[in-house]
Amino acid sequence: MSSTPPLRGDSAPTLPSVDASAPQRAGTDFPGRARIGERTLRTDRWWLQPLVTVTVLGIFILYTGVRIFMRDYYWVEEYSYLTPLFSPCLSDSCAPGSSHLGTPLPELPFFIPLPFLIFPILAGFRATCYYYRKAYYRSFWLSPPACAVAEPHTRYSGETRFPLLVQNAHRYFFFAASLLLLINTYDAILAFFPDTGFGIGLGSLILVANVALLWGYSLSCHSCRHITGGRLKHFSKHPLRYKAWTIISKLNARHMQFAWISLVSVMVTDLYILAVSAGWISDLRIVG
Ligand code: FES
Repeated sequence: MSSTPPLRGDSAPTLPSVDASAPQRAGTDFPGRARIGERTLRTDRWWLQPLVTVTVLGIFILYTGVRIFMRDYYWVEEYSYLTPLFSPCLSDSCAPGSSHLGTPLPELPFFIPLPFLIFPILAGFRATCYYYRKAYYRSFWLSPPACAVAEPHTRYSGETRFPLLVQNAHRYFFFAASLLLLINTYDAILAFFPDTGFGIGLGSLILVANVALLWGYSLSCHSCRHITGGRLKHFSKHPLRYKAWTIISKLNARHMQFAWISLVSVMVTDLYILAVSAGWISDLRIVG
């Protein structure tokens, strides 16, 4: 059972008077609701969670925004390490050897990022994710910033209008991102087979860990759970789907954790490959 946030005062708080002539707002000032002048009566650090969310998501957005415009340091030819942010690399502008699926696209002008086709899918999958929606609605739009804290907005239309209507496309982003994840998995396997034969380096282990976390994030997706076990009238007639739905439901309970850990792991994986590719560090070789 969730605990009630602490409130100011020992017993019933003395409520400040409210200017009755002030314009009525929707939300907490809606007629019929308690007239409380304070924005919140919570005394705990309710602002910490939105602050952390803004900080981590802000770093990620900034990092990936800069990174996709870099045309170097995404591929380590010696060990077949390809960063997931650029996979698959599909144009003639890609570094030799990095295009595992060929180059159906011509050379790209400098202002078009190499992953211009895949990045919208990855960003769209995260941006429309049910968990991230909650996180950034609260943290960036303060809608509301926390339980029992009034929001600054006076109107609310939910996700019934453009642009938030697009959030309903999440299931399609799920399918597209799952295809990319299959390619990421292939990349991670290739990272054990550099030109010299079989080998294991810290980079190959990081790529595998990253792919495992990304699978955890994708499989725990609410859309995945619905696709697996939704719209069924009788689980007893679909034992395999029921079994899959049971497993995915357990993962789904950890979706928030997968969302954050996989976000960080994508950044760490890319940063490691950037550092090795740029020659800042050497890959730690375990075998080969
Ligand atoms: S709900 Fe988060 S990825 Fe689908």
